[in-house]
Amino acid sequence: MIRVLKIGGSILTDKSREFAPREEEITRVAKEIAIHPDDVVLVHGAGSFGHIPAKKYGLPHVFNRQGLRVTHSCVARLCEMVVLALSHAGVDCLPVHPLSCLHLRGGRIDSFFMDPIEEMLKNGIMPVLHGDVAMDATGKAAIVSGDQLVAYIAKSLQADVVAIGSNVDGVLFSGRPLSRITRKELSRVESAIGGSEGVDVTGGMRGKLLELLDLADLGIESMIFNAGIKGNITRALKGEYVGTRIERDK
Ligand code: IPE
Repeated sequence: MIRVLKIGGSILTDKSREFAPREEEITRVAKEIAIHPDDVVLVHGAGSFGHIPAKKYGLPHVFNRQGLRVTHSCVARLCEMVVLALSHAGVDCLPVHPLSCLHLRGGRIDSFFMDPIEEMLKNGIMPVLHGDVAMDATGKAAIVSGDQLVAYIAKSLQADVVAIGSNVDGVLFSGRPLSRITRKELSRVESAIGGSEGVDVTGGMRGKLLELLDLADLGIESMIFNAGIKGNITRALKGEYVGTRIERDK
């Protein structure tokens, strides 16, 4: 049972301050993942390690070589912290940096060398990816969000469980989480959907939903849930629906 899990940067870091990891949360998340670590591809958000430097250098709107390097090294540092926490929790894992194995075109993944990820899964190693800067065939600087990675990987591996953990209880409509959402319903609730707190260069909740609705169109359902609530990550990994379920129009 292939499971693709994203843990948002808002859980792992304080998104309003640069380089502010939430170390206790990183440890808790790692311990929860360690309960069901098999066949999991983990993607984590960049949080303040990505959004703040990206914004500072004008990414993704401005092509800035230094900005690309600095932003990548910052998110790679957060990834190292996540990998270490997982290792301490007993999970065999390896970092996979999207910058080095995928290529975008117009901000969308055009090619992605997935073989190492598949090989890791076959060998009992959890691949750990993250939102990252990336090269784009159109010559523009670009950012690949963890949400886009989740959708691509889930499709490519035909995942059985797809879960995006954020710091809210799902897709909020007038402050309350919807139990399910389809593409048709999106237009009805769109204007009332909450954005993202802090600095966010990759689209917040709306960006997540659009990625997951595309996936639902292909028959792969997913969920957006609150990863800040203890126990939810473990439940999501078991395939239990927590938060909002993203479904295909029937
Ligand atoms: C953003 O990744 C990547 C960069 C800003 C470099 P995400 O969009 O997945 O990060 P979070 O979850 O919002 O923090």
